[in-house]
Formats: sequence, structure tokens, C-alpha cells
Amino acid sequence: MCGIVGYTGTKPAVPILVSGLKRLEYRGYDSAGLAVETDGGILVEKEKGKVSELVNLLNGHDENAPIHASTTGIAHTRWATHGTPTQENAHPHASKKIALVHNGIIENYKSLKTKLIGEGYIFLSQTDTEVLAHLVDSFYDGDLLQAVTTALKNVEGTYGIACMAQDEPGVLIVARRGSPIVLGVGENETIVASDASAIIKHTRQAIYLDDNDIAKICGGEIDIRTLDSGTVSREASEIDWSPDAAEKGGYEHYMLKEIYEQPDAIRNTIRGRMNTELGTAMLGGLNLSPREVVDIQRLVIVGCGTSLNAGIVGEFATEDFAGLAAEVEQAAEFRYRNPIINSRDLVLAISQSGETADTLAAVREATQKGALVAGLVNVVGSTIARETGRGVYLHAGPEISVASTKAFTCQVATLLMVALKFARSRRMSVEQGRQFVKEIDSLPDLVNQVLAKDKEIAAVAERYVQYEKMFFIGRGYLYPVAKEGALKLKEISYIHAEAYHAAELKHGPIALLEKAMPVVALALEGPGKEKTIGNIKECSARDARVLGIITEGDEEAKSEVDDYIEIPKCRLHAAVVPATVALQLFAYHVARLRGCPIDQPRNLAKSVTVE
Ligand code: M6R
Repeated sequence: MCGIVGYTGTKPAVPILVSGLKRLEYRGYDSAGLAVETDGGILVEKEKGKVSELVNLLNGHDENAPIHASTTGIAHTRWATHGTPTQENAHPHASKKIALVHNGIIENYKSLKTKLIGEGYIFLSQTDTEVLAHLVDSFYDGDLLQAVTTALKNVEGTYGIACMAQDEPGVLIVARRGSPIVLGVGENETIVASDASAIIKHTRQAIYLDDNDIAKICGGEIDIRTLDSGTVSREASEIDWSPDAAEKGGYEHYMLKEIYEQPDAIRNTIRGRMNTELGTAMLGGLNLSPREVVDIQRLVIVGCGTSLNAGIVGEFATEDFAGLAAEVEQAAEFRYRNPIINSRDLVLAISQSGETADTLAAVREATQKGALVAGLVNVVGSTIARETGRGVYLHAGPEISVASTKAFTCQVATLLMVALKFARSRRMSVEQGRQFVKEIDSLPDLVNQVLAKDKEIAAVAERYVQYEKMFFIGRGYLYPVAKEGALKLKEISYIHAEAYHAAELKHGPIALLEKAMPVVALALEGPGKEKTIGNIKECSARDARVLGIITEGDEEAKSEVDDYIEIPKCRLHAAVVPATVALQLFAYHVARLRGCPIDQPRNLAKSVTVE
């Protein structure tokens, strides 16, 4: 939700700010803007639309113009919360000699605005951020650090901010509460960003601010404090992925690149985490002694969107193989419905970004209630990873595409390892454990076999491009796959796709079936297949075209469907991964053929840091 970049150093700021914005565009692309320090004061340029629109605007400046000489600035790419996506509502927002960019929500903005209007401030936008800019100005008497500190003490809500003042050359003030801020530490320079992808080109040394941290930065000098106390020390850590990992690498879209990265990403997820001899998984990051593993009486999984869908697989596998009670819950619901939690529950928060506000709130609620809380997170150093303090990193590499792909399959691989660990501490024999290890090890190969069918899947997609609505159905392990397939399709192709448990169809949704409503049916060999075939017959009888996701060589299933994609034969808990990859490719090709902006679907942002 919104991307922030800042630069203070000795190099021209504008190219660094713009390339950082391009990296962060996945966080929001409603409008973009920047503010830089010039001899004539702070210069603000902003435009509705994507970063490319801002670049067009900047190209209007003569190459000798002061904007190009500036070595300090802040920039922003917006995902609108308060106020429509317009030029006026784009960041930075300025107040007299101050400019500010913000990611988050100022919850008490109305009362602050009324007060500031009473003091004579004139508002040009509908944003909550402009309130913050004027508030900082109202406390400013030549010391920006002091003014921002006082302003933030009057603010309720969440923020990651970067702020500059005309009278303090080279100085940036940055702060965070709820929205991430990373400082890239270079030689006589610092790059500020919402995440490491915007700084990796310049430095691998990163300092992650904690909530309530505020920092004064000037060139390479960084002074970090908390809002209530003096200087604090925050260690720099090394970013362990390469700049190339965040490039498209010849693929037309990040989404396609990330789909193709899955065999390697899964290998990285499972590397060093399985013990073939003992037939178990070694998840040191969970930091649970064998005694604690045995003592846990329930696994509660929380997450949102794709992470929630992966969580359902984790729930089924944990109950199935470990005989441990497990449940999965939408993170926002978990937080607000006052769940019954105790110290023998392990709450596992799943999040690719590690910044999702609802999931973070669930983590805090579970911690408050005394549960053991662990994270299953991709982004190293993210808020959920740090607040849980224990967990398993996915090591999937940076996921840039708004539509999550490799995070899902790596989450499933990890959840299978979690299930295996609990299973081996309970009722699973070493032999069964070894078999399970083999199945997890085979996931990259299963994915490769599906990727090899990319052209076939593209051809199938052509037959579904014209539809405006679609059902996905599945049972057992294939139900979360149906949900994930529908989520992918709706978010990138804008086709109204809904997933139902195959058995649920006849309890209502079947009323919608007709020629114009095709059904994607997950009908792989395994428990429940025959019943799903029965459901397919019900769909065909209502004139719905059926695309079957079926097991390789299953002639019976082929004869029941109009089109099919074959998945290599394996047990269903493992088949989740290749079947999902097939649906990712299906959604990708449908969206591509419909001419949709695949990496930047409308109204979405990669990291949802608002509730
Ligand atoms: O970063 P998280 O895994 O916490 O994100 C959760 C959801 O916002 C995310 O999975 C979202 O549903 C994706 N756009 C789905 O492709």
C-alpha cells in the first residue's frame, strides 16, 4: 500500500528516486510524485497514474534545470485510501517549507483537520496525509526532527513517512508505525524505502526501522530514536538476494517469471530442512523443543488471500497426518471475534510480505492471549517476522507481481513440512515419514512437468477468454486449489470467478449454471474423485462447459469434460502444488489474451497494510 523512496547523499536524487518508485510500483500505482531540494526551495512534481506519467512530467524539465542537480529528495507511488486518484491527492504533500510522503492511514485526521483549518491552514487535497504535512508545519520552528516527533505524538493510526524542510538542506526525517521503512546504508548516502527492492541496486546494507522509530538522516549519517526516548541502536543486516532477482529477466511479466521460478523457489524453501534418515522436517526457526512440539494441542493458522488459501492446505495436512487439531482463520476475523486461545495453541501467521495489517493484528491478538506465535513469512526482516520472533522463512526470493504465485507453492511446501514435523512427533512411523519427505522433495519436479505444458495451457485458455464468469470446484485438498485458482483468475483477468466446495454446488450456486458459466473442476485421482465426477456431470447437464484438472492418463475423467489439463500422478496433498501451477498459468494466459495489465491489476496493491 503505497511505496516511499527517499535519498540524501552526493548523487543526483531524481534518477535514484524514480528507479526506486519503479521498483515499488507494485505497492500502488494510482499516482506518483516527488519533492527535491533546490536552491530556490523545495520543488514538487506529481501526476495521476503510473510512475511513467511522472517520468513524462519530469522529462519536461530542461537537462540543466535545478531539479536535476538536487541531491536530496522524497518520492511516492500511491494506492488511494482517502481521496480519489487525482493529481491533487498525489504525494508529496507540502505545507509552507515542508514536504512529506506517507504510507498508512491517519485515523484521527478529521479532528486534526478541523483544528488546523481553525489555525488558518488551507487544504488542497482530500487526503489524510495533507493533515500530517500541515501538522508538522504547525510545530516547526527550524528543527524538523522535533516538529515531526511532536506531530506524530498527536497522530492515531499507521504511518511510514519521509519528510524534508527547505531550511534544513540534506536532511530527511523518516518514521514508522505499522508501515515499513528500510534504510539502505551507502557511502555518504542513505536510500530510504518501503522495502529492500528499491535499495538493493545501491547497497546491500539495510536497517529496518521498528514501530515508533524516528530517524534523522543526512547523507551517510543516521540518528535513530524512538518517539519517546533518545538515540537507539538498530543493527544493519545484509540483504541476501541479488538485484537480478527483482528484474523481469526476459519474461513479459513478473507474474510469469515468478510462476517459472517455482521449482527453484520450492527447492530453496525445503533445502536443509528435511531429514531423510529420520523421515522428518527440521524447522529450527520454530524454536520449539521436542517436548513443546508434543505439548501443542492445536494449530491455528491465520492469513489473508493467497496465504489464507495455503493455510487451508496446512489445516488439512496437519489433521490428516499428525492427528493434531488444526483450524484456519481469516486474519481480520480472528482479531475481531475474540477467539478462544491458550498457551498450548500454536498460532501460525502466514504472509508473503510479512506486512499485511490484518495478519499482523492477529499476531498481536494471539500474543496478547498467551499463545505460541510463529510466522511463515517470505520477506526477511518484515514486521510479522520480527514480531513473532520464531517461524520459518520461505526463501522464495522477491515476489513482485501483485498476484501471488511462488509464495503460495512455497507456503504449501512449508506447511507440509510443518505437518510432517508434528506427524513424526505423534503417530507417523519413520517409514511413512520417509515417504512424505520424498513427496515434498518431488514438488519441484512436479512443477516442472506442469510448466512444460505451458503452450497447451495457453491453448486451453483461448477457449475461456470470452467468458465473464466462471466457477471453480474441488474437494478436500483440491478445495483450496479451487479457491486459489479463482482468486488468480479474478484478480488479473477481471472475470468474476468463484470457488465452491464441489459438494456445495447443489446447495445454491448450481442455480447460476448455464452456457455462459463454465466450470473449472479439480478432479484428480484420489479420495473424492468419483463424487467430483458426479458434480461435473451435474454441470454438463446444465450446459456449462467444463475444464477438468485431471490426473495424467485418466481416460474416465477426460471423457467427462470438454477440456482438460493433465497433472502428474501423486497423492493429493502433493498434487496441490502442480494443480495450482496449472491454474496460475491458465489465469495468466486468459488475462494476457484479454489484454489486462497483469502485474498491476486495477484497485490492488501487493502489500495490504491497511485494515
Ligand atoms: O503478503 P501476504 O501474503 O500477507 O498478502 C496476503 C494477500 O493480500 C495476498 O495473498 C493477495 O491475496 C494476493 N494479491 C493474491 O494474489
